[in-house]
Amino acid sequence: MLEQGAIVESDTKRNTVIAVTMATSRQGAGVVKELSKTNKYQIRAITRNTKSAKALEIGSLNNVELVKADLMDPESLNKAFEGVEVIFGNTTPTKGWKLFRGSIVRSYEMEQGYNLINQVKTAYEKGKLNHFVFSSISKAKDPLKNEPAPGHFTSKWDIEEYIEKLDLKKITTVLRPVSYFENFENKLPGYNISKKVFPGIIGKDFKWQTIAVEDIGKWVRGILSKPEKYKTQSINIAGEELTGHEMAMTLQRIVSSEGLQTNYIKIPRVAIKFLEYDIGVMADWIERSGYGADMKKLKIIQKELNIVPTSLKDWLKAKLENKNKSQIEWSRHWKSSQWKLLWDK
Ligand SMILES: NC(=O)c1ccc[n+]([C@@H]2O[C@H](COP(=O)([O-])OP(=O)(O)OC[C@H]3O[C@@H](n4cnc5c(N)ncnc54)[C@H](OP(=O)(O)O)[C@@H]3O)[C@@H](O)[C@H]2O)c1
Repeated sequence: MLEQGAIVESDTKRNTVIAVTMATSRQGAGVVKELSKTNKYQIRAITRNTKSAKALEIGSLNNVELVKADLMDPESLNKAFEGVEVIFGNTTPTKGWKLFRGSIVRSYEMEQGYNLINQVKTAYEKGKLNHFVFSSISKAKDPLKNEPAPGHFTSKWDIEEYIEKLDLKKITTVLRPVSYFENFENKLPGYNISKKVFPGIIGKDFKWQTIAVEDIGKWVRGILSKPEKYKTQSINIAGEELTGHEMAMTLQRIVSSEGLQTNYIKIPRVAIKFLEYDIGVMADWIERSGYGADMKKLKIIQKELNIVPTSLKDWLKAKLENKNKSQIEWSRHWKSSQWKLLWDK
C-alpha cells in the first residue's frame, strides 16, 4: 500500500511537447486535430487571439493548450517555444486586401519567417528542441521553367534557405504542399462550386496536383512517427493529380443520379490578376512548370507512414453530405444573399 502523498510513477510515456504556429489556420488546425487524436502529444496551439471562435474550437480538443503569440513578435515566440521538443512552423503572406496591392505581401511573410527560424534556433540551442517541421510550398516539376515564380512561393523557398543558413537543416523536415482542394470553395461571384459548376484557375486539360488541407496534418503525424529518417528531408506533397475536366467529372459522377451535368469553368486569368496579382502569376506558373510532387514515390511513403490521402471524390462527397459542417451552397448558383453563408476561411 502506498503512503498518502506518495508519487506514483506512471509507466506510460510522457507526451511530447509540440508547438504549432498559426494553429487556427486551415493547415494549423488540421495539424492540431490530427495530433490531438494520437494522445502522444501535448500541443501548444499558437494564435494571436485565444478568444476567437476558431481558437476556442481548437482549444477544446484533447491535449491542446492555447498559447498567445504572434509571428511578428519574436519575444512572444520565444516564450511560446520554451521547453518544446518539436515545432510545426508555418507563415502567411496574407495581410488584408488593398486595391492595386491585393492581400499578398512578401515583406510580411519574410519577417514572420526570419522571426520563426531565429526562435527555432534559440529553442534548439537551449537543448530541448529536436525536430522542426516547416510547411513550405511545392517546388516546380520543371525547375527550368520556374521563373517567373509566384512571390509568395519564393518567400517560402527563401525561408527554407534561411533554415539552411542557420544550420538547422539537421533537425528540419520541410513539407511542401500543393494547392488545397479547399481553394475550390472560392468566393468569386459566378464561380462558386455547385453541383453544376466546378471552378478552377487553370485550363481544363492541364493535370494539376492538389491536396485536402487536413492531409497536411496526416503528413505531420506520419513524419513525427519516424523523425530520424525524415529529418533533413524536403518532400513535395499532393493527394491527387487530375485535369480540371477530370475533377468536374468526379463531381458529375457523384451527382449524376440527379440528372445534372457538371462543367469545369476556368476563372478568367485577367480577373484573378486584378484581384490578387500573385495568384494569377501562380496560375501561369502551374500551367508552365507544374507542381513537382512525385505521385509514385508519395504512395510508398504514405504506406510507410500510415497516411491515407483524402481523394477528391471523398472530399466532394463529404462536402455534399455536409459532414464537415461546411456552409457552401451546393444546390444552387450563387446569390448575393448567400454570400455571407460561404465558408469564411
Ligand atoms: N491555399 C493553398 O492552396 C495553399 C497551398 C499550400 C500552402 N499554402 C500556404 O499555407 C499557409 C497557410 O494558409 P492557410 O490557408 O492554412 O491559412 P489561413 O486559413 O488563411 O489562416 C491564416 C492564419 O494565420 C494566422 N496569422 C496571421 N498573421 C499571423 C501572425 N502575424 N502571427 C501568427 N499568426 C498569424 C491567423 O491566426 P490568428 O488570427 O488566430 O492568429 C490565421 O488563422 C499560407 O502561407 C499559404 O500560402 C496555401
